[in-house]
Amino acid sequence: MNKVIGTAVSRKDGRAKVTGTATYAAEHQIPGLIHGYLVTATIANGRIKSIDTSAAQKAPGVIAVFTHKNAPKVFTPANNFMTSKIYEARLPLSDDKVHYGGQIIGLVVADTLERSRHAAHLVKVEYETQKPVVEAKNATFKEAPPQMGEEFKFEKGQFAAGMANAATKIEATYTTSTELHAAMEPHATIAQWQGQDSLTVYEPSQWVMGCQRTYADLFGLPAEKVRIVTPFLGGGFGSKAFPWPHGILCTAAARQLQRPLKVVLHRRQVTANAGHRSETEQTIRLAANADGMLSAISHEAKSCTSPVESFSEPCTGITPAMYAAPNLRLNQELAVMNVGTPTFMRAPGENPGMWAMESAMDELAWALKLDPVELRLKNETKEHQKKGLPFSAKHFADCLKVGAEKFGWKDRKMETRALTRDGKLIGWGMAAATFPGLRGKASVKVRLLPDGKVHVLTSGNDMGTGSYTVVAVTAAETLGVPVENVRVEMGDSLLPDGGLAGGSMMTASLAPAVMQACQDVLKAANCTTASDACAALRQSGRAAFEATASSAPGEEGKKWAFQSWGAHFCEVAVDEEIGRLRVTRWVSVMDVGRVMNAKTAASQVRGGVIMGIGQALMEECHFDPNLGNPVVYDLATYHFPAHADIPRIEVAFVGEPDLNFNPVGARGVGEIGITGVSAAVANAVYHATGKRLRSLPLTPDKLIG
Ligand code: MOS
Repeated sequence: MNKVIGTAVSRKDGRAKVTGTATYAAEHQIPGLIHGYLVTATIANGRIKSIDTSAAQKAPGVIAVFTHKNAPKVFTPANNFMTSKIYEARLPLSDDKVHYGGQIIGLVVADTLERSRHAAHLVKVEYETQKPVVEAKNATFKEAPPQMGEEFKFEKGQFAAGMANAATKIEATYTTSTELHAAMEPHATIAQWQGQDSLTVYEPSQWVMGCQRTYADLFGLPAEKVRIVTPFLGGGFGSKAFPWPHGILCTAAARQLQRPLKVVLHRRQVTANAGHRSETEQTIRLAANADGMLSAISHEAKSCTSPVESFSEPCTGITPAMYAAPNLRLNQELAVMNVGTPTFMRAPGENPGMWAMESAMDELAWALKLDPVELRLKNETKEHQKKGLPFSAKHFADCLKVGAEKFGWKDRKMETRALTRDGKLIGWGMAAATFPGLRGKASVKVRLLPDGKVHVLTSGNDMGTGSYTVVAVTAAETLGVPVENVRVEMGDSLLPDGGLAGGSMMTASLAPAVMQACQDVLKAANCTTASDACAALRQSGRAAFEATASSAPGEEGKKWAFQSWGAHFCEVAVDEEIGRLRVTRWVSVMDVGRVMNAKTAASQVRGGVIMGIGQALMEECHFDPNLGNPVVYDLATYHFPAHADIPRIEVAFVGEPDLNFNPVGARGVGEIGITGVSAAVANAVYHATGKRLRSLPLTPDKLIG
């Protein structure tokens, strides 16, 4: 059988994307399409005293104006994840309250985009204003409620006793800023009704079937009456998994008007109305004996949510998985602020959690005068300390060792301000990476044609991660056909339920189902190879052999903890005169189980590292302390890395297929790359300058000597 899995296969959808033929949600051409433009609040806390839409209604081309006074009908959804899930529990236009700056308070529908936008600016609003809370220092923190069925609070052993007897202790507080997903494709919805009870939604969705169920719940329809179409997403990073208020409002207005309606968020509206990663503050306490063995770990985290949804950035989730300590204590707090609703963003929790933990481990290494790689090797844990289960196929130590070797870490002196080049201080830093191995139920249909072509069909989709290619690779190898012969159709709720593109689980969910369906096709053909099956088709004149198969997690989660691992090594150059920090070299070594496609897997890690370097160096969103509006609101004011900011990133994989996890042994690779990156950078900055920076991003003001 030809070996395809694990080789470097170029993206199936690459040509369509670079030539502009890939169709994104807002680009679907629908006859008779009309356009909606959102009216958004200019205050961040208060209520609407009056809203005057008369001028807007009289403006040329205007078809309808919706406000809280004539909100189109929407049912309250179950919003329990299983039946339905919306990002923001409050339904759009449900009352006169304003909870955050930029909140949607109206929708103007017209025959063209320009006319809807013009009329939207004619809507006059008077507010009753209260001072918004947009800074964490003014917010009230309370114990975070359980999230996704899990309590944050956890204690093992006796933290105080573990701390008391320690030879070396460190305690430090680390912060991260509000960050934006900044996906290239802005959020957009086209809603097209066929009468009152049949709906098609074109929307960038990471979870096609979840969105189908949710729109069905919102509009009182059976799921099969709703079709969701998402062949391509221009990035999601967690912000495109469930409907946001603009999508709900667009769909409700389209139903009332019985015309196909499109609403696209402009960049400022993406900032306010489509999620972000909350700022965090985390305090880590570590205690170790003289050999560097940890005796106690405490991790306390704070994050913020909006008044209309409870979402905690789950920073402490990584802690029981990373390092063994007989005494372990975790806690999270949450505060409500007048900001838009925060949500999942690439490695939610793991990313800020690892920033704090891996910075603290570096501080401990320096306090112990122990190499930070050595400290991690000494303290890795064989079991997940909260689940009480052993890790399956764990190769964290190999990540550390291979990474150190590739980087040349042994030449590093444990001395700050010791290396210079071209008048700049040079520093080397490292940090670990981790992300859980998750998978869900997924179904696919595979069809084998007489000419040897293969079609694979599923609602599971590709948000830019490489799923089209991974699915093709899996089918090609299982059937023994060239990967060029495989055509993959994804992202349509008319296809079998492929699950969620989130939690780095699309590959781990889909690939076993693809493999099973391919085997079932051969079984249906009563052949052992695809070429025999094709010959049988040609002989019989039959059009195709096909099979639909599903794959789902079983009992394995009761025996094992599944987790991926990694190590980042980097070099930075710091010019203290002007506070310029450059990342000049990068090596990442990952253990993610089986690598399905060397090219797209390495791309995922690189993308994660780049996003992590952005977090380390420049990404932050602030809110006007008086007015409450985000003062960073587009891709010019939200600074993120460009090519010139990024060095060559060397990516390598170690480990083995995790066959306890699923039949292909792949744990997923979408999110792990971003974890630990900002800590590796800050640790390198400490090595370069002797300055321990604990607040992200590491902007020039913090670096000037
Ligand atoms: Mo991811 S934050 O689960 O899309």
